[in-house]
Amino acid sequence: MKIGLFDSGLGGLTILKAVVKELPQYNYSFYGDTQNLPYGDKSEDEIYQMTVEGMRYLFNDGCALVIIACNTASAETARRLQNEFLPAEYPDRKILGIIVPTVETLVSDGQGKVILLATKRTVESNKYQLELDKKEANKVELVQVAAPELVPLIEHNELAAAAEASIKLIDAKGGESEVVVLGCTHYTQIKKALRENYGDKKKIISQDEVIPRKLRAYIDKHPEIEARLIHGGERKVHLTKHRPDYDVLMGQFLGGVYVEEE
Ligand code: DGL
Repeated sequence: MKIGLFDSGLGGLTILKAVVKELPQYNYSFYGDTQNLPYGDKSEDEIYQMTVEGMRYLFNDGCALVIIACNTASAETARRLQNEFLPAEYPDRKILGIIVPTVETLVSDGQGKVILLATKRTVESNKYQLELDKKEANKVELVQVAAPELVPLIEHNELAAAAEASIKLIDAKGGESEVVVLGCTHYTQIKKALRENYGDKKKIISQDEVIPRKLRAYIDKHPEIEARLIHGGERKVHLTKHRPDYDVLMGQFLGGVYVEEE
C-alpha cells in the first residue's frame, strides 16, 4: 500500500517532496483539488465535502495512510474525518492532520511571541490556539493573521510579490514576534525569502521541515502500518483540474521528485 497526501492545490507538493527525501522507499499518491482551490475562503461544510472526495480517491488508490497536507482542510475536517468518516467507510486506514505536529514543534522549540500566517478559514477556526491550549502552552503568545492574497500569488508563481506581501503583514501585525509559523503549505515556497529578510531576528517554522520527521516517528511507532507499505518508489500526482502552466509549477514545487501524472 501507499502513503497519500492531500491538498487543495499544489502547496502540498512541497510536503511530498520533503517526505520523499526523508522516506524514499515508499510509494506515494498525491491529490490536489485544483478545481476547487482556494479552500481558504470556503465554508466548513464545503471544505469537508471536498476533502472527503480526496480521501475516497486516495484510499481507493491503495493508500494505507493519508496526510492532509493542507492546514485549511486539517483545521476544518481532520477530527471529523477521523471520528466519523474513517470508522464508517475505511476502518482499517489512517488520516493524519498537519496542525497538531506543527503545534508540537512550536511548543518544543518556539516559545514567546509567535505570529501565525494562514488562510482566512484556518485563522477563523482558531485551531492553532485550541491545540496550544490543549497542551497548556501558556508561554506561547499567538497572533493569528489571515493572508488570503498569498495562495493565489503562489499558485501563479509570483513568489517575490507573495514574499513582499507577507513581510508587510508580519511587520504590521507581529513586528515583535520571535517566531513566524507558516501555517499554509503553499507558504513553504517563500520561507527562503523570509529567512533572508529576517536573518536570526525571527525563526521561521515551515511545515516541509516538520512533517517528514513527524511522519518517520509515526511510522516507527506503528509497525503494523509500516508492514502494509510497499517499498517501491512510485510517485503519482492527481490534480482535479489541469492548467498548462501547472507542468512548470509542479516541477518547481517538487524540485526533482519524479512523478507520474494522471
Ligand atoms: N495549502 C492550503 C493550506 O495549507 C491552503 C490553500 C487554500 O486556500 O486552498 O491551508
